[in-house]
Amino acid sequence: MKIGVVGFGRRISGVIYGPVKELAPDIRITGIVDPDEKGARSRLSEQDSKEAVFYKTLGEMVRKAKPDALFIGTRCNLHTPYAIQAARYDIPLFLEKPVAISMQQAVSLEKAFEKSKCRVVVSFPLRVSPLCSFTRERIEEGAVGEPVHIMAWNYVSYGTVYWEQEYRNYKITQGLFLQKGTHDLDYMMYLMGSPIVKVGAMATFMKIFGGKKPSGLVCSKCKEAETCLESPANRKRNRSGPHEKDHPCIYSVDCGSLKTGTNEDTSSAVVEFASGAHGVYTQVFFTRRDAHARGSTLSGYMGTLGFDWYKNQLNYTRHHEPFSDTVNTDPGMNHFGGDLELARDLVKLVKDSRFKSRTPIETGLASVYTCLAAKESYLKGRFVKVRQVGQ
Ligand SMILES: NC(=O)c1ccc[n+]([C@@H]2O[C@H](COP(=O)([O-])OP(=O)(O)OC[C@H]3O[C@@H](n4cnc5c(N)ncnc54)[C@H](O)[C@@H]3O)[C@@H](O)[C@H]2O)c1
Repeated sequence: MKIGVVGFGRRISGVIYGPVKELAPDIRITGIVDPDEKGARSRLSEQDSKEAVFYKTLGEMVRKAKPDALFIGTRCNLHTPYAIQAARYDIPLFLEKPVAISMQQAVSLEKAFEKSKCRVVVSFPLRVSPLCSFTRERIEEGAVGEPVHIMAWNYVSYGTVYWEQEYRNYKITQGLFLQKGTHDLDYMMYLMGSPIVKVGAMATFMKIFGGKKPSGLVCSKCKEAETCLESPANRKRNRSGPHEKDHPCIYSVDCGSLKTGTNEDTSSAVVEFASGAHGVYTQVFFTRRDAHARGSTLSGYMGTLGFDWYKNQLNYTRHHEPFSDTVNTDPGMNHFGGDLELARDLVKLVKDSRFKSRTPIETGLASVYTCLAAKESYLKGRFVKVRQVGQ
């Protein structure tokens, strides 16, 4: 299986050399489009380093390297332009999320895929994680009756990455609904079996992160490192993570501003589903240590199902029978086992032309339209209708 990659960075090299290689040990990366050839080469295996050719464009790579699968792993703002090019070919595509970062991008991406033969695995590990799939199966069996409510939470314990890495570049990410919530809003629609049609959202900015510290400041050059809770020494002492290396200041002007756009410390959305049900989603980026939590509680008249990926557990209460269950899942899986499932789909797409991805392009688009509506809602202070795929 020959692989062509656009943007051979940290995430996509981890996916290819991790779960994809686990399932298809004979893979070879034969073509790469990445302007940082040195950085990309440092991530290649010894064998692939000998074979892989760097190309200027996706088109040239497809023509000359003839890949069996394409992977797009650039940063967020380039997913759409490259995916539009990939849509011209009948080659299975693994596409990083979010699939678009603006309405203009999302609409042109949808258009490009309307008549495309390109089958896509959108990188949504949560939706395909065993715990989420298992929960959906219980819902389909009628465990809760018709789902009428969902409450989903995401307390991120490594949230400083969105202020100390490239994720703080708002031009590239366009905020944390698109960056993070895109996963959760997607799996909520999957579990509820219905798209989100209306959103009311709120966001809180610059109460915790961001600020006026100089551009380019890093802890090792900062006079306040002794007292700052985010310095490597204090993170180490307090065991507050997410890492203890020297890093860019999370209170710097580089994190953006309300005027230029910046990531939210925390944001929440009330959502209405096409089925008439409603739900809530909330994400918090300054929590630490064992405050981490990500999961949901979903209810219908007949029962309630609740799970948290960090607890590896599903709880089921029958509302009208005196029995409740707890199901435990295996701990320690990468992205809660979701990355392996995404890789499984991609490998199947290559081997079987009739196989259907569990995260096709429509799931990526539906989630982006929802995230964009959430952004518009918190900016305008009112409920916003969500554009629907195929509208
Ligand atoms: N699905 C998930 O759970 C998940 C997890 C982590 C990251 N991600 C996503 O993965 C993406 C990449 O994140 P990362 O941490 O690997 O970033 P990265 O910076 O390590 O990788 C991006 C790569 O793209 C290359 N690149 C830059 N400009 C390019 C261009 N014009 N054409 C081709 N390549 C170009 C860079 O040189 C780099 O190698 C992000 O969009 C992020 O949201 C998804």
